This record gives sequence, structure tokens and C-alpha cells, in this order.
Amino acid sequence: MQIHPILNHKKRFLDLLLLADEQESMIDKYLERGDMFALYDGDLKSICVITQESADLYEIKNIATVEKYQGKGYGKSLIQYILEYYKNKCTTIQVGTGESDLTIPFYESCGFRYSHRIANFFIDNYDHPIFDRDKQLIDMIYLKYYYKK
Ligand SMILES: CC(C)(COP(=O)(O)OP(=O)(O)OC[C@H]1O[C@@H](n2cnc3c(N)ncnc32)[C@H](O)[C@@H]1OP(=O)(O)O)[C@@H](O)C(=O)NCCC(=O)NCCS
Repeated sequence: MQIHPILNHKKRFLDLLLLADEQESMIDKYLERGDMFALYDGDLKSICVITQESADLYEIKNIATVEKYQGKGYGKSLIQYILEYYKNKCTTIQVGTGESDLTIPFYESCGFRYSHRIANFFIDNYDHPIFDRDKQLIDMIYLKYYYKK
């Protein structure tokens, strides 16, 4: 398994990024300023984009594993790599997600804990309703990982 930083032509991963964030104009808001990492195990398995939000805070903006490879540990391996990579660069990493029982347990299993919610985020910021299976996503749920220093 290898993890590479991706510095150029980040849009070539758009299909995978859209799995996690289905509106391209929202991806455009963070893609260029974000750090991108790609996990390969033979072929591409997972992608992640992370941004610096303030001196001590980074935010995972997008993480996705190719559908047929989900549930095999690749997403968690990529998060573990990122937690190690940023450990001397900040005190906290946060991630925002819809109120989904597909994603919140994933982040919890990676050591993130509930922080706060932004009401109506998906209604206010997306141009169409966003669904997780048959449940409409309304609020953005933030989880945080705190480094022990
Ligand atoms: C969320 C996602 C990135 C997880 O990546 P993955 O490679 O499938 O996850 P992993 O196989 O590494 O799973 C890691 C852990 O999360 C848990 N997990 C993953 N998906 C889960 C689910 N749907 N329900 C409960 N637990 C889940 C696994 O059981 C595992 O826990 P463990 O290590 O304690 O056994 C992937 O499912 C995905 O790409 N989803 C679509 C895009 C998306 O929704 N991205 C997040 C946007 S906020």
C-alpha cells in the first residue's frame, strides 16, 4: 500500500471526489487550496482532501474509497496516515459530514468525536436536496480529532 501527495491536476480524481461530495461547485471551493492524498494498493483505492482552516486546525473536506473496495480498511489507513502526517502541524483535525449512519461510525472508529452541528447546512449551501440512501441530509455534523500533547 502506498500513499502519495497529489500536487497537480487534482480534477482527474473528480469521479471519486463526487462520491463524497456530489456537487462539483462545492468541491471547487476547497480543491485547489487543499492538500490531496491518494492511496494506491496496485490501483487507486482512496482519495482525501484536507485544508488548513486556522493556525492550529485542519479539516478533512473529502474522503472516498472506490465503491468496490469499501469496507476493506483503505479509508481508515488513509485517515491514520493523515493523522500522523499532520501531528506536528496542528492540535486538531475536524471533519464535517451529513447525519449519516454510513459516515459517522467510520470517523468515530478513526478516533474522531462529535463536536457540533451547523443547522441547515445542506439546504443552505447545495443547489439540490442531498440524500444518504432515502434520508435527506439537513445539518452538517462536525467531529474532531484532538492530538494529545
Ligand atoms: C466513508 C468511506 C470513506 C469509508 O472508507 P472505507 O475504505 O470503506 O472504510 P474502512 O474499510 O477503512 O472502514 C474503517 C472503519 O470504519 C467502519 N465503517 C466503515 N463504513 C462503515 C459503515 N457504513 N457503518 C459502520 N462502520 C463503518 C469499518 O467497520 C471500520 O471499522 P473497524 O476498523 O473498527 O473495523 C467510504 O465508505 C466511502 O467512500 N463512502 C462514500 C463517500 C463518503 O460518504 N465519504 C465521506 C463523506 S463525509
